[in-house]
Amino acid sequence: MKNFGLPPLGAGAGLRHAHFDDIIKHKPPFRWFEVINEDFMNFGGYVKECFEEIRKHYKVVGHGVCMSIGSTDPLDMQYLQNLKAFLDHIDSPWTSDHLCFTMVDHTNLNDLIPLPFTREAVDNVVSRVKIVQDVLERPFLLENVTRYVTVSDREMNESQFINSILEEANCGLLLDVTNAYLNSKFHGNDPLEFIKSLPLDRVGQMHVAGWEALEDGSFIDSHDAPVPQPVWDLFQEVLKLTGPSSVIVEWDNLLPPVTQLLEEAQQANRIMQAQFPSLEAA
Ligand SMILES: [Fe+2]
Repeated sequence: MKNFGLPPLGAGAGLRHAHFDDIIKHKPPFRWFEVINEDFMNFGGYVKECFEEIRKHYKVVGHGVCMSIGSTDPLDMQYLQNLKAFLDHIDSPWTSDHLCFTMVDHTNLNDLIPLPFTREAVDNVVSRVKIVQDVLERPFLLENVTRYVTVSDREMNESQFINSILEEANCGLLLDVTNAYLNSKFHGNDPLEFIKSLPLDRVGQMHVAGWEALEDGSFIDSHDAPVPQPVWDLFQEVLKLTGPSSVIVEWDNLLPPVTQLLEEAQQANRIMQAQFPSLEAA
């Protein structure tokens, strides 16, 4: 089974409020948009009007940032019920969130904190993903996150951690190619070898993004720049392993004009179409 059984949508972009007017006015040929669930699930007024107009013209798929799947706080069942209603409303064929935690003792840390690679953390995440899947009633993908430090690899490495969770919870992988690349820079491993060690038949979606390079040679996963060439090269290699997929260009800060975002998405589509000519032209 390729692509976790999900339809390969080609390349699109993350939908951001600042681009609403241009998208509604010019209808640029994005194949699809990923929407941050929490940005829209409780919306109203102007945001809702714009969002509903955009939905008339584009496929949208929900992606979350607040589930805190690795937390030891109880799952927020009201949040999950609201999320289910939102995903039903936008007819999202799948949804995703990050393999991390964001909540501690009911306080949102507003960051994606990596988990320790332990059996205890695997069991905790697996039990929570099963509940999430029961409530949401659609395929659920977990995204690999960047980690500037190794929290713990005494029991297993990142690949074993991800493999265990996906297999035991029977969920999919949102493969963030940039995160895998940056982690290889932080921790000195080969990004393609890391990706090859993941259960690639479970990859249902991918992300690519740019980052901020600091003067001291380090990086910040800032989503504020064009996708660098090494990530495009890695993406090209990954596609040989996964087959055609659905990919999103993530750009969250220092937003570019819509035309530049579209060019990034079209670059991803060109790379995909070069390998899979049967994919429709963007
Ligand atoms: Fe991502």
